[in-house]
Amino acid sequence: MATKRPLVLAPDVEGLDTASSLLRNGALVAIPTETVYGLGGNATSDEAVAAIFEAKGRPAFNPLIIHFASEETVWDHVIPNNVSRKLAGAFWPGPLTMVLPRRKTSSVSLLASAGLDTLAVRVPAHPVGHQLLDVVGLPIAAPSANRSGCISPTTPAHVVDSLGERIAAVVDGGACHIGLESTVVAVLDDRIVLLRPGSITREALGSVVNRVDHVTAHTDNQDAPPSPGMLERHYAPQTDIRLNAKPDDLKPGEVLLGFGPGLTENTPDGSKNLSETGDLREAAANLFAMMRDLDALGASGIAVVTIPDTGLGIAINDRLRRAATPEKP
Ligand code: TXA
Ligand code: MG
Repeated sequence: MATKRPLVLAPDVEGLDTASSLLRNGALVAIPTETVYGLGGNATSDEAVAAIFEAKGRPAFNPLIIHFASEETVWDHVIPNNVSRKLAGAFWPGPLTMVLPRRKTSSVSLLASAGLDTLAVRVPAHPVGHQLLDVVGLPIAAPSANRSGCISPTTPAHVVDSLGERIAAVVDGGACHIGLESTVVAVLDDRIVLLRPGSITREALGSVVNRVDHVTAHTDNQDAPPSPGMLERHYAPQTDIRLNAKPDDLKPGEVLLGFGPGLTENTPDGSKNLSETGDLREAAANLFAMMRDLDALGASGIAVVTIPDTGLGIAINDRLRRAATPEKP
């Protein structure tokens, strides 16, 4: 049997309609941007975002960039200030990503932002990518459309080679003319911090904003940007987390975060199950929302059962370990 290949869709009305229905149905579609091809999924669907991480084969849930058709739609999800409005005016549509405070009302999946209170947003300039975002009318989460650890793709053929049948389709927008991921900045009051260099240079940013700071801290992951000391990089619950707990052996005051069948009437009130059926994709989709819900209970601890350390379970366990051992400041 021949290996299943993703559809390669032409950048015409029919192709964009097909891509749009696939995205609306939760499927993954690679989309052209002026920087690199993005592995796109509906950013408002926890399941679609979990599928992105699964297709990437990323060992960790790094927050993803959310792509929009226009500046106006961006402001529905994040809170702008004067500096972000100036940067948007100067560089959007284009290869600039801004990390901004997320609105409480935003429908973007918590998994897409790895549980953070910020969102990374951008409005791409590629005519085809831009048109697709306009037609689909949804925020689209998209990391570069390659398997983790591989080179970022700048043609549909690169995407197909790297991701194959892990995605439903790729929209053919030709070769990406920049070929380097977008510049990422965090906007803090009247200054910005450069989190990832890109084709919009520090000098170009400096012509719009008074102060551009560099990130100084370490990096602990090749896929991740250097960790900015002043920015919250990982979602950290207030409640203590205990890993590899046995559901029938909880400490007083603990609530349970389960996986697979086995929560009973003896399980403390408020406890949650990441996936009744033991489905890792469903568990990933539920992870951040359930951690937040459990954290809000004010319990003495959150006891988490053992999660299989395979596939998406590796990223889930990475996140749970970080939550259980808070990082030193
Ligand atoms: O050019 C690009 O930016 C491509 C195209 C497809 O748009 N996308 C891309 O996405 O490179 P990705 O997921 O590979 O990179 C996202 C970057 C990472 O460095 C991530 O850590 C950072 O943005 N990021 C995302 N959300 C963040 C947040 N809330 N706070 C800090 N950094 C964030
Ligand atoms: Mg990448």
